[in-house]
Amino acid sequence: MLGDFVYCNPTRLYFGKNSLDGLNRELPKYGKNVLLVYGGGSIKKNGIYDKVVKILKDNGKNIYEDAGVMPNPTVEKLYEGIERAKKAQADLILAVGGGSVCDYAKAVSVSVFCKEDPWDKYYLRFEDVDNEIIPVGCVLTMVGTGSEMNGGSVITNPKTKLKIGKVFGDNVFPKFSVLNPEFTFTLPKYQMVAGIYDIMQHILEQYFSGTDDNTSDYIMEGLMKSLLKSAEVAVKNPLDYEARSNIMWTATWALNTLVAMGKSTDWEVHMLGQAVGAYTNATHGMTLAAVALPYYRYIMNYGIEKFRRFAINVWGIDEKGKTDSEIANEGLSAMEEWMKGLGLVMNLKDLGATEDMIEGIADSTLIMDGGYKVLDRTEIVNILKESL
Ligand code: NZQ
Ligand code: ZN
Repeated sequence: MLGDFVYCNPTRLYFGKNSLDGLNRELPKYGKNVLLVYGGGSIKKNGIYDKVVKILKDNGKNIYEDAGVMPNPTVEKLYEGIERAKKAQADLILAVGGGSVCDYAKAVSVSVFCKEDPWDKYYLRFEDVDNEIIPVGCVLTMVGTGSEMNGGSVITNPKTKLKIGKVFGDNVFPKFSVLNPEFTFTLPKYQMVAGIYDIMQHILEQYFSGTDDNTSDYIMEGLMKSLLKSAEVAVKNPLDYEARSNIMWTATWALNTLVAMGKSTDWEVHMLGQAVGAYTNATHGMTLAAVALPYYRYIMNYGIEKFRRFAINVWGIDEKGKTDSEIANEGLSAMEEWMKGLGLVMNLKDLGATEDMIEGIADSTLIMDGGYKVLDRTEIVNILKESL
């Protein structure tokens, strides 16, 4: 049954080849001081930095920079960003980059006026924001996380080996996001396919839960079909605008809160993947790809109806003369072939994980209760071993 909910997504999107012009409409809404946040320099190589800086200058903004946001941004970098934002007296934080840069910008936005340690308050105690928030806008250059239209913000604490995603409310969502599929053309293939799998996994986390007849499940099947088709095209021709734009739009809908409305969700694969990330600093989408199949094969029989439906509706498995388990298994095998075809990393060893890390990774894995099976620690260890 569809549960009760309140739905609001306040992020204004500018989508398409000319979407950067949207900055000219948004910037006048904010004060003069802009903290320009970006990563390791890809935006300087591909020219996006110059375009953004020109528009900021044309709009009379004072530009303060916060560069070097790493993939899987750390808590130390967050502390540095807070100081930079304070010094700049930032009226707006403009994130130009992928999910890491957008997530980080949100973390800074809620932390500048926070009276306690933001890591403790938001990431360990999962508390809500009760102080002033600096508005955030995004120019997205890497597709996958959905960070452009949600309140997610994942921060890693390398010392305590914890990678934690805080899901903030809609007061922390980006005020606006610019989505130009052409900005993703320069992504290395490794990042492109990791992002494609991240999208798939966001959908699966929300699909493999519940036994009701939920509208969201039909939406998600459509999103997955679009993703399968566009991924196939994009892997062969990364410059195919139609495919890259479909992937970008699917990513946004996969995790902008819509499909989760009124239904339970799982997220255990993300908890496993994030713990792996805390130990290896591996690319997010790849950590998910390495653990997903061992997890789904393990829980399949607890949610067999949905796995059967997934096989038939998403992968076109012929159901005639087969048991539910056979159909469900064929669906997962089809997904495995698709993943291999994309060139995903399918095991933890190739991401730098070793046998002696397993216990620690298990300790860092949060246990969720919205999926078909609530795992215990032994089961987590077994799934991690299976993923090695
Ligand atoms: O740092 P630069 O130089 O920009 O390079 C980046 C980075 O090395 C590069 N890149 C990005 N756009 C590019 C480009 N290279 C060439 N051309 C471009 N146009 O790609 C690399 C990866 O970027 P990153 O932002 O780390 O990737 P992604 O978007 O996958 O973000 C990953 C982070 O998001 C979190 C992950 O855990 C991870 O920390 N997530 C956030 C979520 C959310 N907000 O809801 C949910 C997700 O499940 C995820 O957990
Ligand atoms: Zn993800």
